[in-house]
Amino acid sequence: MGLEPIAMSRQLDADLIAAALLHRGATLGQPLTVLQEVDSTNDEAKAAARGGGAHGALFVADSQRSGRGRGGKSWHSPPGENLYLSFLLRPTIQPGRMPMLSLVAGVAVARVLDEALSPMPPSAQAGATPSAESPRVQIKWPNDVYVNDAKIAGVLIEAVTRGSDPPDIIVGIGLNVATRVFPPEIKPPATSLALLGREDLDRESLVAAIAFHLGEGLSVFTADGPATMLAELERRDWLAGRTVQVGEIEGLAVGIDGQGQLEVRDRMGSVHSVVSDEVSVRDLSRGSS
Ligand code: BTN
Repeated sequence: MGLEPIAMSRQLDADLIAAALLHRGATLGQPLTVLQEVDSTNDEAKAAARGGGAHGALFVADSQRSGRGRGGKSWHSPPGENLYLSFLLRPTIQPGRMPMLSLVAGVAVARVLDEALSPMPPSAQAGATPSAESPRVQIKWPNDVYVNDAKIAGVLIEAVTRGSDPPDIIVGIGLNVATRVFPPEIKPPATSLALLGREDLDRESLVAAIAFHLGEGLSVFTADGPATMLAELERRDWLAGRTVQVGEIEGLAVGIDGQGQLEVRDRMGSVHSVVSDEVSVRDLSRGSS
């Protein structure tokens, strides 16, 4: 089952999310907590982690007072428009692979967007603005999801350590659904499903689609390692072929390695694997961020 076009409900409906999770067969999303307004859904999930909450627990809010992104940035979180959700996960993976969860989540969101932006059935086309060519759904390493060079979603991974156990992982996802006008200071340029012609999708189905694809991606990653995800990342890699600066290293982004690190080839031809997340794009001819 794919995404169903249904009129957007203004308030998030917990019963509809629960039904959509069941309908999609999502392996994550239990227990489900739907809140009107929170500081940050990541904080809700962290509090649950500290209290011993279950793997797969999902926190969704209609709005956030202090939604945050990476690097101390704030995340635009108005009510009634977008998705702000956080999963509490206890994945059974090697600690060294934890940083790759950001990419697993990004790929899951990209798959949801492929579903949402694939050619629409005739019943859904009234009033929508279908684009002439298929949208490019890409991942900008390490945590951004872009469509046609504009950011539509971001992933914020946080860890909660409890004694000597491996840390609990919080996967926070923000997805722009219905916002049409973003604050001008937002960088890089933002987009939303509505701006891409899908103003007919309800947020409840999108929550379930994210839970489904994240659950699928996580189980493949846990059982088989990162190969499948890395192959998909290779074709979705927004940075590939762009000139980037990461810390002291400037060069051409040439891919993502088996540890989920960005590979940058410098002017001397040496390839560096970088973990720092502060990437600036130098090649303005291909767009900047
Ligand atoms: C980024 O692009 O830097 C990451 C943005 C992550 C935003 C989501 S919204 C749900 C969750 N709660 C937060 O405060 N942040 C994440």
